[in-house]
Amino acid sequence: MQSTEKIIILDFGSQYTQLIARKVREIGVYAEIYPFNISIEKLKELNPTGIILSGGPSSVYEDGAPIPSFDVFAMGIPVLGICYGLQLIAYQKGGAVDKAARREFGRASLEILNFEDIFAGVSQNTQVWMSHGDHLTKAPEGYEIIAKSENSEICAVRSPDKRIYGVQFHPEVHHTTEGKKILENFVRKICGCKEVWNAQSFITSTIEKIKNLVGDEGVILALSGGVDSTVAAVLLHKALGDKLHCVHIDSGLMRTNESQTIVNLFKDSFNIPIELVDGSGLFLSRLHGVEDPELKRKIIGTAFIDLFEVAAKKFNDAKWLAQGTLYPDVIESVSIKGPSATIKSHHNVGGLPEKMHLKILEPFRELFKDEVRAVGRELGVPEWFVNRHPFPGPGLAIRILGAVTKERLEVLRKADDIYLEEIRNAGLYNHIWQAFAVLLPVSSVGVMGDERTYENVCALRAVTSTDGMTADWFEFPNDVLAKISNRIINEVRGINRVVYDITSKPPGTIEWE
Ligand code: XMP
Repeated sequence: MQSTEKIIILDFGSQYTQLIARKVREIGVYAEIYPFNISIEKLKELNPTGIILSGGPSSVYEDGAPIPSFDVFAMGIPVLGICYGLQLIAYQKGGAVDKAARREFGRASLEILNFEDIFAGVSQNTQVWMSHGDHLTKAPEGYEIIAKSENSEICAVRSPDKRIYGVQFHPEVHHTTEGKKILENFVRKICGCKEVWNAQSFITSTIEKIKNLVGDEGVILALSGGVDSTVAAVLLHKALGDKLHCVHIDSGLMRTNESQTIVNLFKDSFNIPIELVDGSGLFLSRLHGVEDPELKRKIIGTAFIDLFEVAAKKFNDAKWLAQGTLYPDVIESVSIKGPSATIKSHHNVGGLPEKMHLKILEPFRELFKDEVRAVGRELGVPEWFVNRHPFPGPGLAIRILGAVTKERLEVLRKADDIYLEEIRNAGLYNHIWQAFAVLLPVSSVGVMGDERTYENVCALRAVTSTDGMTADWFEFPNDVLAKISNRIINEVRGINRVVYDITSKPPGTIEWE
C-alpha cells in the first residue's frame, strides 16, 4: 500500500468510475476502486479514510440493482454518493427516487444553497455534468438540500451529522467546471486527508517496498521499449542496482532503429546495461506465410518466451520477473470493459513466470498510464520518451495484414516514419493516444507521371483515448493529412494510395489485427 490514507471508490458500473480515482489522485490523495459487492470485512481491512459511491446505469428500484450487502452509511466513515450513489443514499435512508420527467444528460447550471463544506469556495451558480434518468423527489429525513438546478430541486444533500453527502451530477467529469474543488473539499475537509500522494512519494515508498520484498535476489525485466517497462526498469534499477537484469528482444518487427534507440537511451541516460537479443531471423522465419492474426500473435508470443528463456538463463540469481502491469488491468470493476481482453490474445511474456518458476514483481499495479508517465519524468526519463505512444508487443506484424515479409516490413516502416514525423511537425503528437500506419494486402491502380501503377494501399490510424479500452478517431486538419498522403505516395515505393481509418473503438479495435 502506498499511503496510509486512502479513498475507496465503490463501483456501481459507471463509465466514469476510473475517472473518479484519477481525479482524487490528482488532488494528491491515494484512491482505489472496488466492486460494490465487496464484503464488509474486506472494506474494513482496507481501512478507508473516505468512501465514494460511483454512478451507474441501474435504477435503485430495479430487480437486481447493485446494492451493497451491508450498510455502508453506518460505518462511521465519510461517504460521497455520486448520481446512482446519491439515489442509493435516498433509497437506504428513507428518501424517494423517481424516474425523472425527462432524462437529464449534459451540462446544467447548479445553484449552491450551502457553502459550508463540500461546496466551499465554489461559485454560487456553477456548471455541472448530468447523466441520469432517476432523480430524488424527497431527501431522507433530516438531510439538508445543499444544491438545486432548474430541472431538479434536489441536486445535492448532506446528512445531519455532516458525514454523508450525495450529488446528482458528476464532479469527476471535466465538464463540471469546479468538480475538482468539490472532490477536494470532500477528501481534504470532510474526510480530513492530510498526506500528499504524488509521483515523488510513490517513488520513495515503492523503492523501499521493493528493497524489502526482493532483498538480495535478482530480478529480470523484459524491456519492450515502451513507456511502462522502461520506467519500471529505471525505478527498479534505483532500488536494486545491478541485481536488475534487463533483456530487450529485437523481434525485427520494430519500427526504424527502435531497438538501437532503446539500448542507447539506457546506456547514455541511465547507465543501465541491457542484454540485447537479435531475434529478427527467428521471428521472420516462424511467421513465414502466416496470415491469421491470432496465429501471428501466438507465434510471436512463443518466440518471445523461447528467446527470453535462453537470455534469462545467464542470470542465475534471478528469482523475480518484473512486469509493467498497470492499474486498469487489475481493477475488478463492474463496468463493462472494452472487448480487447477477449478479442485478442495480448502477448508479451505471459506464461513465463510459471515456466521459469519466477515470482512476479509489478511495481505499477496501482498506477494509471499518466501516473507512470509522471513517475518517469520524476526519474529523469526524457520527455520525448515518456510521451511515446503505446506500441503493441507483436509490433509491425499486426499492422501488416496478411503475410509478413522483410520487404513489406520495410515499406511499412518508411510510411510509418513519415506519418509520425509529420504528426510531430504539426505539433499533434501529444494530442493523440496512438498513431500508426497499416499496410493492407490490397493493391489498387494509380497513375504516377504518365505511368500506370498497381501497388499497395496504406491505411493511417490515429485515435484519442485515456486507457486504450475505448477510443475515438482523431480529427486531423485536412492540410496535415494531405501532406502525409503526398509524402508517403511520393517517397515510399510500393504504396500508391493512402486512406484514413474513421472507426471508433468499439466497434473497431485500435490495432487492425
Ligand atoms: P486493441 O487493438 O485491442 O488495442 O484495441 C488496445 C491497446 O493495446 C495495444 N495492443 C497490445 N499491446 N501486446 C501489447 O503489449 C499486444 O499483443 C497488443 N495488442 C494490442 C494496442 O496497441 C492499443 O494500445
